[in-house]
Amino acid sequence: MDKTYLKRFEIIKVANYDEMSKLAALTIKDVINLKPNAILGLATGSSPVGTYKELIKMCNNKDISFKDVSTYNLDEYCNLELNHPQSYYTFMYENLFNYVDINKNNVYIPSSQGNDLKKNCQDYNEALEKIAVDLQLLGIGANGHIGFNEPNTPFNKSTWIVKLTKNTREANKRFFENDINLVPKYSITMGIKNILKAKKILLLISGESKRDALVRLLSGEVSTKFPASALNLHSNVTVIVDEAAAKLIKN
Ligand code: F6R
Repeated sequence: MDKTYLKRFEIIKVANYDEMSKLAALTIKDVINLKPNAILGLATGSSPVGTYKELIKMCNNKDISFKDVSTYNLDEYCNLELNHPQSYYTFMYENLFNYVDINKNNVYIPSSQGNDLKKNCQDYNEALEKIAVDLQLLGIGANGHIGFNEPNTPFNKSTWIVKLTKNTREANKRFFENDINLVPKYSITMGIKNILKAKKILLLISGESKRDALVRLLSGEVSTKFPASALNLHSNVTVIVDEAAAKLIKN
């Protein structure tokens, strides 16, 4: 493991995805053990799957308990049934919640169900405003999105409905029979303002496809053109990167 500090970020370089996942899970374990009723902000996608596997192991071994933990997810696709195999609701239950001792009443995932999505955004925002996330887990899109806040999203946005870019839908078609037409065009997502409210942010960056995003993240640029650059405005961000993603950075 190789630690460096760049700008405001703590960057931890690890060999591969598995090491990234183990370290991320240990970081979350520390948060939960220090504060059993911790509030976690959670992500979906490939980046956190290994972390969730590690957390499940820890829970089975009684090293941690989710009994009093609450979770708030970043986002959910629009126009998918709640129980669709690719909804983020399904993802979270299949990758974590079904296998840990979390109280399902403490699970919050933005809802894209019903006819009034603006109201859903407001409700989620109101819930987020009442709490402070202790640790927000993030992945990053190749285009720099965090949550589904695509390039040119103002940093002061709260939960909102976003039109997904073509390249995000391309990147995610792997979950939809490789057919971009099956990938939803819209998503409900926490805004960058909500994300930045977390006490600590843990960003996972793995694999070749994220190399350019990592370079840009560390460039010092702070611009809505690259949403993850908003993390420069936060004072407690740890980035775990694997070697495949870190190929183009020096240290
Ligand atoms: C997921 C999310 C997205 C993903 C990003 C990276 O809840 O908000 O920002 O973290 O698209 O996805 P993966 O990890 O699949 O490369």
